Amino acid sequence: MTARLMLAVGGAVLGSLQFGYNTGVINAPQKVRAEHRENKHTSVPPRASALSLAEIVHPASNNSLGLGDCWPISPATLTTLWSLSVAIFSVGGMIGSFSVGLFVNRFGRRNSMLMSNILAFLAAVLMGFSKMALSFEMLILGRFIIGLYSGLTTGFVPMYVGEVSPTALRGALGTFHQLGIVLGILIAQVFGLDLIMGNDSLWPLLLGFIFVPALLQCIILPFAPESPRFLLINRNEENKAKSVLKKLRGTTDVSSDLQEMKEESRQMMREKKVTIMELFRSPMYRQPILIAIVLQLSQQLSGINAVFYYSTSIFEKSGVEQPVYATIGSGVVNTAFTVVSLFVVERAGRRTLHLVGLAGMAGCAVLMTIALTLLDQMAWMSYLSIVAIFGFVAFFEIGPGPIPWFIVAELFSQGPRPAAFAVAGLSNWTSNFIVGMGFQYIAQLCGSYVFIIFMVLLVLFFIFTYFKVPETKGRTFDEIASGFRQGGASQSDKTPDEFHSLGADSQV
Ligand code: GLC
Repeated sequence: MTARLMLAVGGAVLGSLQFGYNTGVINAPQKVRAEHRENKHTSVPPRASALSLAEIVHPASNNSLGLGDCWPISPATLTTLWSLSVAIFSVGGMIGSFSVGLFVNRFGRRNSMLMSNILAFLAAVLMGFSKMALSFEMLILGRFIIGLYSGLTTGFVPMYVGEVSPTALRGALGTFHQLGIVLGILIAQVFGLDLIMGNDSLWPLLLGFIFVPALLQCIILPFAPESPRFLLINRNEENKAKSVLKKLRGTTDVSSDLQEMKEESRQMMREKKVTIMELFRSPMYRQPILIAIVLQLSQQLSGINAVFYYSTSIFEKSGVEQPVYATIGSGVVNTAFTVVSLFVVERAGRRTLHLVGLAGMAGCAVLMTIALTLLDQMAWMSYLSIVAIFGFVAFFEIGPGPIPWFIVAELFSQGPRPAAFAVAGLSNWTSNFIVGMGFQYIAQLCGSYVFIIFMVLLVLFFIFTYFKVPETKGRTFDEIASGFRQGGASQSDKTPDEFHSLGADSQV
C-alpha cells in the first residue's frame, strides 16, 4: 500500500461518501411530526424532510404547483412530495449510472470523477437555497441532480479503484467504495438529529452540506493519477502508464503489471467495440453480465434499503422505545461490518462472503418475522427485532453490500467494462427504486410477514451464487476474462483445475 494509492482511493471514495450521505439524509431518522402520528397506515416523512417541504410550501409562496394556499399542508400532499423527493434521487441514479460509458473512455476515469462535481455543486446550491427561495421545486430538482451524480459515482469509483489496485488488494480496496457509502449514511443519520441539523432552522445546511465533500474531492483528485489501464489500453500511452504504475506500486519494476495489461490490450484488439447489446449477444459476455446483474439484484432485493429508508418506522412498529437511536445503531453496525469485510475479503474470497451474507440475512429475516408476529403476546420481542435488524445489516455488509459493486470491474476486461458498469448500475438503481417505492405498500399488504418476501428472494440469490458465481480472488482481470472465454466457447475445453478455481463446477 503506497501513499499515492491511498490518495487515489481516498479521493475517489469521497464520491461514494456523497452517495451515502444523500441516501441517508432525506431519510434522516427523525421522530415523525406529532400531528401525523395518528395516521399509522401511511408512512410519514421523517421530520427534517417534512419540515423542509412544509416550510417551503408556505402560504406566502407563489409556487407553480399551486399548493401555496394549503397551510398546514395536508399529510397526504406532504407524503407525496416526500416520496417524490426520495424517488427522484433514484431516477437520477438510474440515468447517471447508465451514462458512465459516455464519459470514462472520452475523458478518462479520474477526470470524469472530477467533472461530475459540477453536478454536486449545483445540487448543493439548489437544495441549500430552496428554503430561502421558498421553492420546493428547487429541492426536488436538487435531489434529481445529486441522484445523477450518485449514479455516475457508482460506476466511476469501483471502475477506477479496480483499475489502480494491485491484484492482491483489489477486493479490499474495492470495499472502500462501500465503506465510503456507509460512512456517508452514518454522517447523515447523525447530522440529521434534531439537535444537530435536523431542525427548522438548519435543515438547508443539512442538505447543502454536500458542498464540502465535493470541494474536498476537487482539491484531492488532481493529485491522484489517471488509471494506468486507461492510459495504456485506451490511450496507448505506455510511458505515462509506466510512470503512474511506478508511483502507485512504489517500485521501479512494474514489468509484470505492464505485461498483464499488454496482454489485455492485445486481447481487446481482437474484439470489436463492445456495446451494451454486444454484452448480451456474445456468448463470451453473456455469463458474466448475467452474474453482474443478478448480484446487483441480490444487493437491492435483499431488502437492505427497506431498513435504511424505513428503519425508524420499523423500529417503532416493533415497539422499540427510542427508534431514532436504534436507527443510528444500525448505521454504526453497518459501518463496523463493512470494515470486517474489508479485512477478510482477500482471505475468504468474494463468493464465500457473499454466500455467508445472503444466508445470514435470510436467517435474520426469519427472526424479524417472528419478532413482529409475536410482539403482541410478548413485549420483549422488540429486543429480538433489534437483534434481527442489526444482524440483517451486519450480514449485508459482510458480502452483499460491498461485493456486487467491485466485482463488476473484476468480471470484465477493459473493452466491455464501461458497458458492463452501465448495465449493472442500471439494474442496481432500478431495483433500489422498486424497493424504495414498493416497500410501504407491500408492508401494508403483508403486515408482519413482509420480511418473508425478502427471505425467499435471499434464498434464490443464494442458490444462484452457489451455482453460478466464480471466485475472482487473486486472479488478474485477464485470467478471469479468459476463464469466461473458455466457458463461453466450450465448457469441455477447461481443465478440471481451471473449472474448479472458477467456482464453476456446476456451470455445465
Ligand atoms: C449499498 C447499496 C445502497 C445501500 C447501502 C447500505 O451500497 O447500494 O443502496 O443503501 O449499501 O449500506
